[in-house]
Amino acid sequence: MSSDEPAAIRFLLDGECVQLRDLPATTTVLEWLREHRGRCGTKEGCNEGDCGACTVVLGRLRDGRIERRAINSCIRLLPTIDGCELLTVESLSPAAGPLHPVQQALVDHHASQCGYCTPGFVMTLFAQYLANAAPSRADVVDALSGNLCRCTGYRPIVDAALAVTDDAGSGLWSRADAAAPQRAAALQAIQREDALTLPGYTAPRTLDALAVVLAADPEAQLLAGGTDVGLWVTKQHRALANIVYLGDVAELKRIDHSHAAITIGAAVSLTDAWAALVAEHPPLADLARRFASPLINNSGTLCGNLGNGSPIGDAMPALIALGATLTLRRDQTVRNLPLDAFYLGYQKKDLAAGEFIASVTVPRAVAGLRLASYKLSKRADQDISAVCAGFAVTMDGARIASARLGFGGMAAIPARAKQAEAALLGQPWNAESFARAAGLLAADFQPLSDLRASHTYRLLAARGLLERFRLECAPEPLRLRIDAL
Ligand code: FAD
Ligand code: FES
Ligand code: FES
Repeated sequence: MSSDEPAAIRFLLDGECVQLRDLPATTTVLEWLREHRGRCGTKEGCNEGDCGACTVVLGRLRDGRIERRAINSCIRLLPTIDGCELLTVESLSPAAGPLHPVQQALVDHHASQCGYCTPGFVMTLFAQYLANAAPSRADVVDALSGNLCRCTGYRPIVDAALAVTDDAGSGLWSRADAAAPQRAAALQAIQREDALTLPGYTAPRTLDALAVVLAADPEAQLLAGGTDVGLWVTKQHRALANIVYLGDVAELKRIDHSHAAITIGAAVSLTDAWAALVAEHPPLADLARRFASPLINNSGTLCGNLGNGSPIGDAMPALIALGATLTLRRDQTVRNLPLDAFYLGYQKKDLAAGEFIASVTVPRAVAGLRLASYKLSKRADQDISAVCAGFAVTMDGARIASARLGFGGMAAIPARAKQAEAALLGQPWNAESFARAAGLLAADFQPLSDLRASHTYRLLAARGLLERFRLECAPEPLRLRIDAL
């Protein structure tokens, strides 16, 4: 490329290095595939990350190997796949070639009717085929939680997924083919050292460079996984100011473990962040499983969830309960802030112009910690919370030594129930203590009524969750009595 030629977005598609110039930075991957490339196997359903019709697989270099994950192409901005390998349903079986084992299994099990959703299912199951040679039924069901089918019914699809065996396939995009060293070498060859900078878009590659760019242009639109921002483009048709993408900043892709805490960088995907958090705090497993879908979690970031700061964001209550802190950076200035002090009011955060979250630090488990997280929504999967709660309590002998109760959906911001917490301190773990605390939730919160839940429902549900916590996380002697009932 000559030095005066404008920069191009570069990625691999079926072994070809695609180079694209002169496209708006807000072009989505789906839009490019269907409207520019004429590659229409990938479908558009909702155009907002909910249905999975647009599922593609994205490969990225990680420790010298390609890690491939399924994502929603409808809300993923095209410049952010620079340096990646893009696989679509057409990649798996060229026109006259044999079907991929995943596709063949779907045929064999009659797992498609109108077929509109099928390419999306193929790609989600293909990503799972590469990652997990022997998935359980539960693995398959979880993997498919972001793919909707409205005519076939899920039973044959799940059966098909389970029928793709460990030794399936030796051809194109078999496990062995996917792991071939030349694929990683080809991807290595398109990596860049300097920022990709296009009109209205830049992707710094170091933390210092990111801080400088944002300090120089505080009105720029910071972009992480785009699972919120992508919808501003596809649904609200917003023209975004200069986009600054943080997903290429090496320092922000790290998860660091110290003896006291886990620090998760701003470019770490929700998938990797939840894996690290659940390994340390197993009671978060259900929340992690029910947070969006694997497709969303493979693009979105934990810090994006905290940075967006929605009152019904699901990560905040548990992280507030655990005492998480943010590391914020603005130009050369770094400061740390407890997560619960970050939210000032509806859509108002303690975040200056040009400042960003560099990482979130979550304390590790301490002996005797009683932790729970609950998400209440109308559907189990892929739904928005009416109420979400995270509770962390420690005991000193028979008395409660510390209590942090984080709630979402109860106020204009994710917040602690401070009066209820105070009521628990120094008290024994019993029904009276918790009833007193639950009674104070009405003093802590005056929740709204909206289409998801009424004021009354939210208060009653929050009380119920506290009672559930008392029963589920009771100290051993009491637990034994409850279990024996
Ligand atoms: P982006 O979209 O890139 O950014 C979101 C906002 O945060 C932007 O304003 C951006 O500027 C800001 N931001 C991003 N990173 C930083 C940073 N480092 N510092 C400061 N500001 C930053 N959310 C839930 O809580 N629970 C769910 O179950 C859930 N399900 C979803 C399902 C679907 C189908 C979709 C589309 C979204 C869902 N979400 C859910 C919302 C979304 O996925 C999360 O909020 C996600 O964590 C956002 O992260 P991101 O990296 O994609 O953020
Ligand atoms: Fe529905 Fe992308 S089109 S998730
Ligand atoms: Fe018609 Fe799934 S086969 S939507």
